[in-house]
Parts: sequence; C-alpha cells; structure tokens
Amino acid sequence: MQGFPFFPEQASTFAGQIDLLYFFLLAVSLLFAGVLPFVILYLIVRYHRSQKVDRSNPMSSDLRLELTWTIIPLLLTMVVFFWGAFLYIQMRTPPKDVIDVYVIGKQWMWHTQHANGKRENNELHVPIGQSVRLIMTSQDVIHSFYIPAFRVKQDVLPGRYTTLWFEATKVGDYHLFCAEYCGTDHAVMGGTVTVMSLKDYQAWLTTPGQVIMPDGSVQAGQVLVNTNSVSSEPQVGSSLGDPMALAGEQLFTSLGCSGCHIMAGGGLGPSLKNVFGYDQQFTDGSTMLADENYVRESILNSAAKVVQGYQPVMPAYQGQLSDDQVNQLLAYVKSLSNRGGTAPATVPTVGAGATSAAATAPAGTSAPVATSAPLALPTATPASGGASGGGPFNADLAAKGSQLFTNLGCIGCHQDTGVGLGPSLKGVYNSTVTLSDGSTITADEAYIHESIVNSTAKVVKDYNPIMPVYGSQLKDAEVQQLVEYVKSLGSAGN
Ligand code: CUA
Repeated sequence: MQGFPFFPEQASTFAGQIDLLYFFLLAVSLLFAGVLPFVILYLIVRYHRSQKVDRSNPMSSDLRLELTWTIIPLLLTMVVFFWGAFLYIQMRTPPKDVIDVYVIGKQWMWHTQHANGKRENNELHVPIGQSVRLIMTSQDVIHSFYIPAFRVKQDVLPGRYTTLWFEATKVGDYHLFCAEYCGTDHAVMGGTVTVMSLKDYQAWLTTPGQVIMPDGSVQAGQVLVNTNSVSSEPQVGSSLGDPMALAGEQLFTSLGCSGCHIMAGGGLGPSLKNVFGYDQQFTDGSTMLADENYVRESILNSAAKVVQGYQPVMPAYQGQLSDDQVNQLLAYVKSLSNRGGTAPATVPTVGAGATSAAATAPAGTSAPVATSAPLALPTATPASGGASGGGPFNADLAAKGSQLFTNLGCIGCHQDTGVGLGPSLKGVYNSTVTLSDGSTITADEAYIHESIVNSTAKVVKDYNPIMPVYGSQLKDAEVQQLVEYVKSLGSAGN
C-alpha cells in the first residue's frame, strides 16, 4: 500500500499485522457488499410478477441452506475474533527489555520524560528496533495518545496510569495526535515522534535539554547525565543509576518518606525493596500485584490499600505532588526492585506470583515478611486530668487529638525520643522554641495551631520544612483536639 494516500506509513512492528487484519475485514466487507446487491437485483428481475416462472411448491425450509448461512459467517467472525484477540494480547504485553518513557497529557500538549530525566514537549524521540513503553497519565481531562504510523492509540486518563508499547522499524518523523476531544485546542494537541538510530538516540539522549527537578520545576540547559549508564546500548528499564530515579530518591528524602520507609525494614512503613512487580498483601486479606497504578495510589491515597502488618498512618499526598513528582517517586520505587524494569503485565498475578516472589526476593522484602515487621506505636494516652500534665487542658479533646495524631501519621515523625524527622512534642507547650531563622517564640496555643495548619510558617531550628500542610485537611474542631493533645504532653517547667 506504498504511496496510497489513505494509509499512513508502516513504521512499527505492529503496523503490518494491523493493516493485514484491516484489509481482511475490508475484503470480507467488500465481498458481501459487492456480491449481495447483484444477487438481489437478479432475484428482483427473475421473480418479477410479469415473469413466467414456476411458482408451485414454494420451499418452506432448506437445512443445507440454513447451515451454510450460519456456518460461513460464524467461521468468518471467529477468524476475526481470534486474529484480533491475538494482536490485542501482543499489544498489551510488552517484552521484558523495554525502555520506559513517562508521558503526561494536559490541555493542550504532551510532556514526555525519559529515564535520564530529559524532557520533551510535544515531541518524543525513540530508538529504532527497541521496544519502548509509555507510562501515561493526564493532568486534567481524558486525552488519547495516537501515533498512526505505529498503529497504536491509548486513552490517557487523569488519576491513573495507562500504558502503551511499540517497537519502531523505520527511521523518520511521524505524526503524534491527541485522539480524544479534550477542549478548545484539542485539534492542535499533537507533535512529532522521531525514530532515530541507536547511535543518534544515545547522542540525543545525552544532549542538554529540559529536565524536571525534584521540586517539580523545569530547568533548561542541563540534563542529569549518569556516567555509569552511558553505553552503546540504550538503557533498558530503570535502574538505580537513572537520574529520574535519583530525582525521585531526593524527593523521597526531602518529603520525609525515608523516615518511615526504612529499606532494611523495621520502619513505621514497609520497606520498598522489591515491592514493585511483586504481590502485596493487605490488611483486609486481599492481595494485588504492585504495578504503576498501585504505587501511584499508595502515594496519593495511602489509606486505600494498607500493607498487612502496618497501620494507615501515612499522610495522603493527593494534591500536594505534581504528576512529574509522582513519576519520579515511581521511578525510584521501581529502581528498588529487581523487577523494576519489567512489565507488570507479564508477571503472574495471584498465588504463583507470591510464591516466586518469596523465593527470589532477598529476605525481608516480600509480602509475607511484612506481617512480622515490628510495629511499635507508642500508646500516647493523655494524662487523665488537667492537673497532672502541668497546664490545664481538656482531657476529652486531648484523647481525641491523640487518636487523630496516630491516624494522621504525625506520630511517625514527631517521636518522643527526639530522633524523628519532626521535633518531639513533649513539654513543648508554653516552652521557648528557637526557629530556623534564629528567632525565638513562646509555644502558646496560637503557635501550635499555626504549626499544624501551616507548618512551614515557623520551622523549628535544625528541622526541615517537610511536614505536610494540614490547613485544608482538618476541621477547626480537629485542630483544636490536636492542640489539646499537645498541651496534654506537658508544658515547660513540668
Ligand atoms: Cu487532548 Cu484531545
């Protein structure tokens, strides 16, 4: 079909197969559409009432005829079904040696980001002869990522990842479209996919461009080049050396995640080693394969699925992280797993997956081990009365505050021993606190209230401003309960 203007070029391993199926459908349709009208016309003329034909003994049924018009269409549709299903499964199952590229759709452009941190707008550069998987999400509405020359199209949805893979077979520039109506400028939401030779691709990948920094900002002119990963082969999957994963690790530390997720185990949160690509067991007894969507949900809405043996104490990061940052964290989590680079779709999901995970994963990492992880939540019971704690406080509210303090995960960072990521709150009330700018302040009710609602306003000396802002997440009454709880922990001089 070379040069036939109705068909785009065939530039991926799928293109030929898809076209063949398409031509088969077209041929079958043409056969019926082309032959049936003539049969109808013939019968109209032949049996017109003006024609003298034998009309005696009209046939009421003919088994051979009925079988014929049942079996032939059945066979034809079954051929289409199995052929289509075969292609579909192939297109949904990426090979193991796949390069991951992250794609974010938004009104009205496409952002792509490669494992080494290099970022593109409305462009995608890929190497020839290498399978590439796109891990895609949307920042706003539903878009659809469509490369006609590759014969691939996949909806891109907000709030979850969808994936798509292909292997380009021809060097060149190809159209990229959004194929789902997404607002005013839908028609111009597109760009170019450039297929390059391996050598050119390597050179392109390491040329300065735009990168996303861990804080979510975009910087031009410098690409994080990891010298360990530069080789003649394109990088396969993500590894700990990928700058994108490194950016994720940096974010992981600066957000304070590392305070609870201790990779050696024993933290308030599970270790994240060999989590990705393995089955996880949850508190409700269910299991699920830890794929991209699971990791994303666990970051943004951590309470949705709680790993067995742990408490739902992690703050929800919904609305606090950009999609770029979630992608970096995901790349980091994947880099911690020996299955990080492989497609989760090819990993068996239930039963078998769990056993093989336990067999191959280093000790202390697979799901069953989580049950044995120690969980030592200090039982912070408030003082029974107003008198014993020092300053007067409302014991009722303080008890509720204590519960909230645990549920929200505050307890993970504000540890009594003072070794947590946040300061200990014992005896803080009415004490003099030194802030990071060197000034001092008396920790009265107003100060405690502000520190909960807008934690970054006044940061205690020697601590980082990593506490989530709870302003919009807590009701006034809840903030009051927390304040009373802090007061119950004792005040200065007591
Ligand atoms: Cu995005 Cu149409």
